[in-house]
Amino acid sequence: MHSHGQRVAGKIALVTGAANGLGRAIAVRLAEEGATLVLADVDTAGLAETERQIEATGQSAMAFTADVTEEAPVKALFAAVFKAHGRLDILVNDVGGGTTGRIWEAKLEDWDFVLRLNLRSAFLCTREAAAHMRERRSGRIINLSSGAREGTPWTAYYIGNSAYSAAKAGIHGFTRGVALELAEYGVTVNAVAPGPIETERTGPGFRKIETLEYGPVRATPLRRIGVPADVANAVLYLASDEANYVTGTTLAVAGGR
Ligand SMILES: NC(=O)c1ccc[n+]([C@@H]2O[C@H](COP(=O)([O-])OP(=O)(O)OC[C@H]3O[C@@H](n4cnc5c(N)ncnc54)[C@H](O)[C@@H]3O)[C@@H](O)[C@H]2O)c1
Repeated sequence: MHSHGQRVAGKIALVTGAANGLGRAIAVRLAEEGATLVLADVDTAGLAETERQIEATGQSAMAFTADVTEEAPVKALFAAVFKAHGRLDILVNDVGGGTTGRIWEAKLEDWDFVLRLNLRSAFLCTREAAAHMRERRSGRIINLSSGAREGTPWTAYYIGNSAYSAAKAGIHGFTRGVALELAEYGVTVNAVAPGPIETERTGPGFRKIETLEYGPVRATPLRRIGVPADVANAVLYLASDEANYVTGTTLAVAGGR
């Protein structure tokens, strides 16, 4: 259990990809610390469950079913946020993932899909948030990169997914570039780069390859798979006033890998 406090009390926070995995954990953690949540995802049933968990913390949440890789739904999403709350304090770009397999077999449409899912989503949501936060001269943007931004040994040996590595390295560069553009307006932009984190989606895969030579636990100095709370706490820190002087950085939450 973590302690519940007021580290983001009164803030309006939008979390994309909030219907599952890390996005859900991030949204619930921000709610526990006093934020009012807006959730976006393509998985309507998953959103309802996240909403239920947030309401159990005593905070309120609004859920939007939206494909954040497309311009029109993203514009509609932000319009709805401003209509409901009049402002946005925290944006967490969590949507991402995807796989291409080994490079010599990778399909063009899979390459395009992975870049689109990870980069285009972050671009579209960040553009809307930045225009607003720049004017208000305040705001926090937090992106999800990955340990894969430098390549992931277990993925490389057993699955192959260089498009994902390229996209998450892209997130690191995007984060830094946008941070510098927004710095004079008092808006901070950072990324969290998780190592292997157990979710419903990733857990079975990690266990399947753990006995092999480059198992994720073995390749992680702290000798465990991370839990969603490890990532949610890092995002919470970057979203809180404690991180006032931190911008343009990618924080590894990867057990020393
Ligand atoms: N789990 C890990 O080990 C790990 C490690 C490093 C980085 N990450 C990154 O963290 C983020 C979350 O990962 P996760 O493991 O929780 O993933 P996940 O697949 O469990 O959750 C992603 C969510 O995004 C939603 N989504 C997919 N496409 C969408 C779209 N076009 N529009 C709106 N929503 C969409 C899905 O419905 C899902 O709820 C991703 O960016 C991922 O790349 C995860």
